[in-house]
Amino acid sequence: MSNLNAVLSRIDAELDPALDRLMDLLRIPSISTDPAFKGDCQRAADWVVAQLQSLGVDAEARPTPGHPMVVGHIDGPADNPNCPHLMFYGHYDVQPVDPLDLWDKPPFEPELQDTPKGRVIRGRGSSDDKGQFMTFIEACRAWKAVHGALPCKLTFFLEGEEESGSPSLVPFLKENTAEFSTPDLALICDTGLFGHDTPAITTMLRGLLGEEITITGPNKDLHSGMYGGIAMNPARVLARIIASLHDETGRITVPGFYDGVPELSAELRNQWQSLGFDPAEFLGEVGLSEPAGEQGRSGLEMIWSRPTCEVNGMWSGYTGDGFKTVLPSEASAKISFRLVGTQDPLAIRESFRAMVREMLPPDCEVAFKPHGASPAGHMSTANPMFEKARVALSDEWPNAAAFVGCGGSIPIAGYFQSILEVDSMLIGFGRDDDQLHSPNEKYDVECFHKGMRSWARVLAAVA
Ligand code: BES
Ligand code: ZN
Repeated sequence: MSNLNAVLSRIDAELDPALDRLMDLLRIPSISTDPAFKGDCQRAADWVVAQLQSLGVDAEARPTPGHPMVVGHIDGPADNPNCPHLMFYGHYDVQPVDPLDLWDKPPFEPELQDTPKGRVIRGRGSSDDKGQFMTFIEACRAWKAVHGALPCKLTFFLEGEEESGSPSLVPFLKENTAEFSTPDLALICDTGLFGHDTPAITTMLRGLLGEEITITGPNKDLHSGMYGGIAMNPARVLARIIASLHDETGRITVPGFYDGVPELSAELRNQWQSLGFDPAEFLGEVGLSEPAGEQGRSGLEMIWSRPTCEVNGMWSGYTGDGFKTVLPSEASAKISFRLVGTQDPLAIRESFRAMVREMLPPDCEVAFKPHGASPAGHMSTANPMFEKARVALSDEWPNAAAFVGCGGSIPIAGYFQSILEVDSMLIGFGRDDDQLHSPNEKYDVECFHKGMRSWARVLAAVA
């Protein structure tokens, strides 16, 4: 135990330099989806490599057809040859920053700010995922400084394409299976706390299917006075298709969509009930009041265990200032499905496309562009390290740790299992109001600090 206390004290004493290092990383605009930032992604990868090397990790940035994978290996303490072997995963890429005019400060000029709710680190990537994965690297740094070695054998794996669907990841894992299939467990730091300060181990992730559709009609934009009434309008066709994707009870109408969607077990239902989630409070934070999902489902079911269909963007015709009486020649939408249970993304893609084709009136055509397809993830908690981590997290935070679901998607957890046969334990310290993927993203200094301390406790417990 005193082993651990010295590390915790070190983390407390070194909070400011740890924050300075995070600020350095946040200044690198590693937006993976935009080719203009390719050099910055490489710079972020090199920065992480240098941090790992400073801990004595044998680390390098390995090239891929996309952005580099940061890979590192380090042995555990010489006097504990039976220590576990853990793999740590995070992502050094970030989301684009638009709409830029809604940021109070430039997104890549991070700042510490005092707010009514406490001190925050403001900047793109502060929570998703740079601040989060640095909690682990900093915990390792403190451990190494105090004990001269890390508590267990570690493999580091940080990718730079998570926010753009991880295109290089599966080939990379398949080519390097031997190198990455030996860990006992993977640790993933890319999720959140439950509520304000209940530490959480995420055991369910939703899958994600993306589809972009473009409906075309007339061969050019038309004058809506000359042609309106006689010509087919693709914007109306698209609107009708989108409106038909849900019925009046909020269920999704794509044929076969609910194949593989399980009902919640009584045990999970009780466990989730005891978490005391308040939908009105959750929605109140974002200016809403009424849950808008499937009728008869609890708020947590809607986010964690029920599938969704959402429009992420739609465009057609004239959208600039003023008014233009145009009848557009095409209309497009980006539509995503969050998936649960054993729903099959590719079967749903086919069924969705068939449904859209069936709804097309004469003279209209549709083109589909796929955007990722990953199934839901279910983490086995059988490994005894889960229980040890749960206790360790409960020691750090005011509330006992909970096993929770997550509405978001982290496809890598599924790939670790299917390609490497390595289970994942997802622990993260983000808060619901971190504004992930939005303007003014932040990470609470408290989460960063207690996140580092949490990892030190988890490492102590499992080692
Ligand atoms: N860190 C998020 C996942 C997440 C979201 C965790 C919300 C906790 C709460 C991750 O970086 C992410 O945004 N994933 C994408 C999927 C990816 C394939 C683009 C997502 O969920 O939209
Ligand atoms: Zn993330």
